[in-house]
Amino acid sequence: MTATLRCSSCDARQPFDAPITRCPACGGLLEVDRPDQPADIAARFADRGRCTAWLSRSGVWRFRELILPEARDADIVSWPEGNTPLIERESVSNWAGCRRLTLKHEGMNPTGSFKDRGMTVAVSQARRLGMTGVACASTGNTSASLAAYAAQAGLTGVVLIPAGRTALGKLAQTVAYGARILAVRGDFDACLDLVGRASGSLGLYLVNSINPFRLLGQRTIGFEILEDRRWRAPDWIALPAGNLGNTSAIGAALLDAKRLGLIDRVPRLAAIQAAGAAPFAQSFAGGFAERFTVEAETVATAIRIGNPASHDRAVAVIRGTNGVVTSVTDEEILAAKAVIDGAGVGCEPASAASVAGVRRLVAEGTIGRDDEVVAILTGHLLKDPEILLKAGGGGITEIDPTLAAVEAAIRNG
Ligand code: F0G
Repeated sequence: MTATLRCSSCDARQPFDAPITRCPACGGLLEVDRPDQPADIAARFADRGRCTAWLSRSGVWRFRELILPEARDADIVSWPEGNTPLIERESVSNWAGCRRLTLKHEGMNPTGSFKDRGMTVAVSQARRLGMTGVACASTGNTSASLAAYAAQAGLTGVVLIPAGRTALGKLAQTVAYGARILAVRGDFDACLDLVGRASGSLGLYLVNSINPFRLLGQRTIGFEILEDRRWRAPDWIALPAGNLGNTSAIGAALLDAKRLGLIDRVPRLAAIQAAGAAPFAQSFAGGFAERFTVEAETVATAIRIGNPASHDRAVAVIRGTNGVVTSVTDEEILAAKAVIDGAGVGCEPASAASVAGVRRLVAEGTIGRDDEVVAILTGHLLKDPEILLKAGGGGITEIDPTLAAVEAAIRNG
């Protein structure tokens, strides 16, 4: 059987290479449905880890059978991305109350966030389809990633961002890579609605995480965590959740890895939202009986999202992984960030939500103190420099250029 695009709402099938991101029949979200997978998949991945060919060095394309086997090498736009480190820091584990906590730092991707894993696939697919431009709505990281990959592919890049609410590092990257930036007087949810309509009329390929090819690429975060652990599943994987594309993608990867026999049990997902932007946590608390929309507000601007587009997909993977959804306050996010930064690791505010969430879930007794937990840090420290300098100037003391002033400042702490 060949691969198709299947509507996750009404099950209608569309050709794999249709340049669409929603079901033409009912408007539902599309999934890539690829029934056949090779049996020797783990051995192939292991061989590739030792290979020096440029595509096999990508932490996305070395899993290409599970991502986009249809792509020819010439279609692929890659940095390469992925291959991000798993790290352990005692101060972070101690703070979270969880002895076996590991951090997966996705901020070590080429544009400083996990978005590159999805973007390499979506932009490669745009090339396969012969599109001339790509577009997205973004809280900042997707726009930086789109801008970089569109520039490399020679495509026009168009991004819609909420005016005045995008962290400085992300905006600067998007400017540098030369995308067309529209700062919308509205929030992320308004941007997403607008870009969905505008991409159709302008002939741009929509590469938000509703695009199933973006999600195929983001699944490699899950595969890479498992492969780096020699296909030994941790008890939990915790991640920040906003529009819920990443929750859906990683959940799907974990379920696929189990189905393919790569792991013998499925890790539980812990999706963490900011308290001021927690419609999914609210829905989880009510057994997913209802879907909510909120006016979102949080210091973690990356996840300042009130109406997550991938809600239904995320419900399926939280159920499928026996996962949980919770929320943490801005104070908890900033406290976690201070610990992660102070450990010499660093991350942007939204990323720290995963560690803050682990601490909360351990305190509640949901995660055991001895459970093995991988917390995903989704973005780099430098994405949001303003928040650090706003919070009291971080130990900067201005002095006169004299030895006495240096000595006095250091001795006085
Ligand atoms: N962490 C960071 C650093 C993000 O930038 C995002 C999303 C998330 C977590 C949440 O992932 O939306 O898949 O649940 N950023 C998007 C953007 C919305 O436009 O860059 P999600």
